[in-house]
Amino acid sequence: MTSGQEPQVSEAQIAVHWREEEYYQPPAAFIAQANAADPAILQRFSEEHFPGCFTEYADLLSWDAAWHTMLDTSNPPFWKWFVGGRLNACHNCVDRHLPTSRNKAALIWVPEPETEDTKAITYQELYRRVNEFAAMLRGFAGLQSGDRVTFHLPMVPELPVSMLACARLGVIHSEVFGGFSGAACGDRIADSRSHILVTMDGYYRNGDLVDHKAKADEAVQTAGKLGHQVDKVLVWRRHPGRYASKAPMVEGRDFFVDEVLPDYRGQVLAPVSMPAEAPLFLMYTSGTTARPKGCQHSTGGYLAYVAGTSKYYQDIHPQDTYWCAADIGWITGHSYIVYGPLALGASSVMYEGVPTYPDPGRVWRIAERLGVNIFHTAPTTIRMLRKLGPDQPKRYDYHLKHMTTVGEPIEPEVWRWYHEVAGKGEAVIVDTWWQTENGGFLGSTLPALQPMKPGSCGPGVLGVYPVIYDENGDVVPAGSGRAGNICIRNPWPGIFQTVWGQPDRFVEIYYQKYCRNKDSTDWHDWPYFAGDGAVQAADGYFRILGRVDDVINVAGHRLGTKELESASLTVEEIAEAAAVPVMDELRGRAVEMYVALKPGLTPSTDIEDKVTRAIEHEIGKIARPKNVWIVSDMPKTRSGKIMRRVIASISNFADVGDVSTLANPEIVDDIRRHVQSEKLARGDTPRELTPQEADEIKAFGHAE
Ligand code: WTA
Repeated sequence: MTSGQEPQVSEAQIAVHWREEEYYQPPAAFIAQANAADPAILQRFSEEHFPGCFTEYADLLSWDAAWHTMLDTSNPPFWKWFVGGRLNACHNCVDRHLPTSRNKAALIWVPEPETEDTKAITYQELYRRVNEFAAMLRGFAGLQSGDRVTFHLPMVPELPVSMLACARLGVIHSEVFGGFSGAACGDRIADSRSHILVTMDGYYRNGDLVDHKAKADEAVQTAGKLGHQVDKVLVWRRHPGRYASKAPMVEGRDFFVDEVLPDYRGQVLAPVSMPAEAPLFLMYTSGTTARPKGCQHSTGGYLAYVAGTSKYYQDIHPQDTYWCAADIGWITGHSYIVYGPLALGASSVMYEGVPTYPDPGRVWRIAERLGVNIFHTAPTTIRMLRKLGPDQPKRYDYHLKHMTTVGEPIEPEVWRWYHEVAGKGEAVIVDTWWQTENGGFLGSTLPALQPMKPGSCGPGVLGVYPVIYDENGDVVPAGSGRAGNICIRNPWPGIFQTVWGQPDRFVEIYYQKYCRNKDSTDWHDWPYFAGDGAVQAADGYFRILGRVDDVINVAGHRLGTKELESASLTVEEIAEAAAVPVMDELRGRAVEMYVALKPGLTPSTDIEDKVTRAIEHEIGKIARPKNVWIVSDMPKTRSGKIMRRVIASISNFADVGDVSTLANPEIVDDIRRHVQSEKLARGDTPRELTPQEADEIKAFGHAE
């Protein structure tokens, strides 16, 4: 490292060393029944057949009008799919299944309390409920196609009912994860300019009936401060007729859905035929800015993509009982609990609560009781189930043919437990890599045709052609052992259309880095930058290393460092804040905050607690930092930038590297002594980082 220059570690320069994992072959019984068992499918989706190959996905849907242009690239990178086509997403997920499957369970809902019965909602009943709520949204709330409506709903059937009711009307829904705070919900309401908020009074979590309506009041207030008015708050009740919240209902603004809905009993509305390119929903996610980004997903392209990937990668058949244990508040739930499975006419299980409540056998009891044969979850949950109940699966009589992992890199040891113990060695596993922005899977094995390899997601999925570029835009070859930035060379139908209200950010964040020619309307010139580091083995399989931007992935939840830092700065004593990741046995990564106080103030646990509370208030409990460290100053470059990699190294007991070029190198030892001795005193003893983890920490914050 030459002196005078800021130390820089580029992902592309990091050599990645690890043992190659062995392959696992899919069981013969799985292959015999798989939706994609003929290798000809790989050929049909090869690049020479792009984009026409996606006709196969679109043909899984019912269209009101056929498209005339498969892929319109005239305004790059705002790709348009199935232009000229018209369809309705609700019709595709509900109405069209009635003739064959009226009395089949569409949703099977498992409440958290085991004293409450599981509820199966048939396609017929879903049809009735969706129509009535759609009639209420139109009649009572005055919503029309193109309007936005924000939901802040937990894992209850009312959530898919509300989504499908919007889809029926062409209203754009924006569901905010129930665990987010009222303030976070309010920001998203204001950003999407929703005048209607749909929420619930309470829901069960870890045995408690949580007061959720209180968050709605805060959300409306926050939106108000941002100059945006919410006209109506529609409140579903967890137990109709019985109010679970202490928050008063605001006269003229708040309404119980179960009191208004009877006015719409039996009403049926024709599904509104929407252009394929009409937005279906927004899903907010964190990125490099303090302001969350509303990813706008299309109707036709998105629905075709999630139907196709549900069929081939989730291998859903009509007779399967499919359970995706994600939350519908995240993209995984939108695509792989609601839209994908229902478009295929499947039975989709939803669970209200915590996977280990009231004991770590709960998940397997549900699988046994309902005859679940496809199971889908995240590494965080797998780690937790493995830690708390390693032998529980044996005690239950269930048999899975297929399992999914999604949302974070999975450690090979954890993968093996999932396969051998949870899956009883009988199931295939797909490790699916993708993002909120993508609509559906980007990297995965096609389960009957491509063997599994623990820790690797596999190759690009059908019709998706990934590549790894270094910082100069040169391809990092497969098998080179070098990591770089994973990109997708081509558009695909599930890609989001834009960042709601911020088209410039859309281009800047995802396409600018590797665009070859801004004037080109050829998609080859516009690779999609995913923001993940990855390495490709000689066999073409990708191993995803994690984010290369300022995002910390905590238990599969994307948290932006800027969001954490600006939440900390709402505490009046705080002058500066920096968020860094620490390795966490269960959650993958956890957040640690470093804060510096305004001059003259004395550090105290009271101030540390205020920072934690501010983060819970602004974002939600999921973002609660593991530790808040008050430091006298932050390590900074001569130009005044906080060197996050230095404090990240301290938090993880890793080598801080060269600090001689800092403006204040002496501070590093002070911080290290303070933080590490305190951690040891708290029994927070570190384990040695793997080479990949050490590389991740070294690279942290380098995007700035
Ligand atoms: C990470 C979740 C490794 C990745 C669907 C990505 C993964 C971010 C995997 C997106 C996987 C997702 N292996 N890492 N199988 N899947 N990620 O938007 O860093 O909540 O960029 O979408 O999670 O998170 P998001």
